[in-house]
Amino acid sequence: MKIVMVASECNPLCKTGGLADVIYSLSRELVNNGHEVFVFLPYYKLLKNKGIKAEYQYYDYIEMSWRHQYVGVFNYEIDGIKFKLIDSEQYFGRDNLYGYNDDGERFAYFSIAVQKIIHRENMRPDIVHVHDWQPGMLPALMKGAPLDDWKTHFVLTIHNAAFKGYLDRYALGDLYNLSDDMYDSGAVRLEGMVSTLKAAIYFCDKVTTVSPTYREEMLTKDLSQGLSEVLEFRRDDFAGVVNGIDVKEFDPANDKKIIKNYSEKAYKTGKKACKNDLLNFFHLPNKDRPTFGLVSRLTWQKGISLILQNSQYMLDRGANIVILGSGESNLEVGFQSLRDAHPDQVGIYIGYSDDIAHKIYAGSDFFLMPSLFEPCGIGQLIAQRYGTLPIVRETGGLKDTVHPEVDGFTFYSFDPASMKGALDVAFGYYYENKDGLDKMIKNALKLDRSWGESMNRYLGIYKDAMRK
Ligand code: GLC
Repeated sequence: MKIVMVASECNPLCKTGGLADVIYSLSRELVNNGHEVFVFLPYYKLLKNKGIKAEYQYYDYIEMSWRHQYVGVFNYEIDGIKFKLIDSEQYFGRDNLYGYNDDGERFAYFSIAVQKIIHRENMRPDIVHVHDWQPGMLPALMKGAPLDDWKTHFVLTIHNAAFKGYLDRYALGDLYNLSDDMYDSGAVRLEGMVSTLKAAIYFCDKVTTVSPTYREEMLTKDLSQGLSEVLEFRRDDFAGVVNGIDVKEFDPANDKKIIKNYSEKAYKTGKKACKNDLLNFFHLPNKDRPTFGLVSRLTWQKGISLILQNSQYMLDRGANIVILGSGESNLEVGFQSLRDAHPDQVGIYIGYSDDIAHKIYAGSDFFLMPSLFEPCGIGQLIAQRYGTLPIVRETGGLKDTVHPEVDGFTFYSFDPASMKGALDVAFGYYYENKDGLDKMIKNALKLDRSWGESMNRYLGIYKDAMRK
């Protein structure tokens, strides 16, 4: 099949979250199985700064109502994935990927440019797979202007419905050259605004999200953040497929970023060495304490406040806590004060580093992920792969991938007491039930988190979309 992925980030080029991992590892899996995959990305300044040697192909112009905009097209290839990088100094020559007040306009430009390139190069993809709100309007654009004898089919994957791509209703014409009818009919209207995510849900042939439980949550009024109505309308075309992870990058048996490798059959000495190394790195002297790791963006979505609220209790029960992440300043400050008060038990690194992340995944006993909502979640999957047992809230993909007292610990209510219950169970295993703990670690190490099965689900969905 010829598949075009359209997204705003992709490993190893540009990443702010799990989306980048998924675009890369799913694409690579498809390529390894004989499919042709193109990934469209903005040619962010950050990519140019990295000095990647993308090959200039041509330039063109697009119209965004009164705007006449330059589009540079560059090609690049990694692991057989063919990247199409869209160059615009005006829109992408900035320090960050997002967070600008014209983000809506930037991704309107991106979407229209993708449409133009697909047509101009006569690419004729079997599937255009769009991800999240940024390219959400592309199906509406392309369905309005199909190639003469070629019908393109569209799949949307929702990685995080918290971001809906809201635009003023007049942006439909002003940015996208689309008629007001789409707004008046309700197809792209959400809460009196245009939502590019809703547009994609409405116009794609198939819609997926990244776990069955998140799918269920999205179909309920309370949890869907306004999208339940349109998703209910698409219910039969809406599927939940759990993400895989890059099992080569995250492989305790071969990982060069950890001090000693290990596998399910003999994990004890390796994992112990990794724990010592992790605690040395953070200058935490007591190597026998149960060690809780956190690798996360420090934002409200991730339930970080529940960790802070339970931290004193955890320290009282003898825990070490190690944290890697950055984000909202009150949460960063919260952890910094905790470390200042307990320098022998708390280690913190504000920022991001792959090397430290791997150390935490391998060297911790438990991995904290009490998210308020979590469409899929990748940290818990990586932790399990390293035999580190996740402690998670039963939401979205966390519920689907962590089984209490089998390969992790769970709790339901989003409150500190409920999380404390799960922590108590974990402490109980650590201090009083080493055999039980050993069994759970082995269960986690045995899990198959590769993309194979999920990729096959996507291929099935692509085929169903093509029948539409
Ligand atoms: C988003 C979601 C996360 C998911 C990732 C990849 O970042 O918040 O749960 O794992 O996308 O699909």
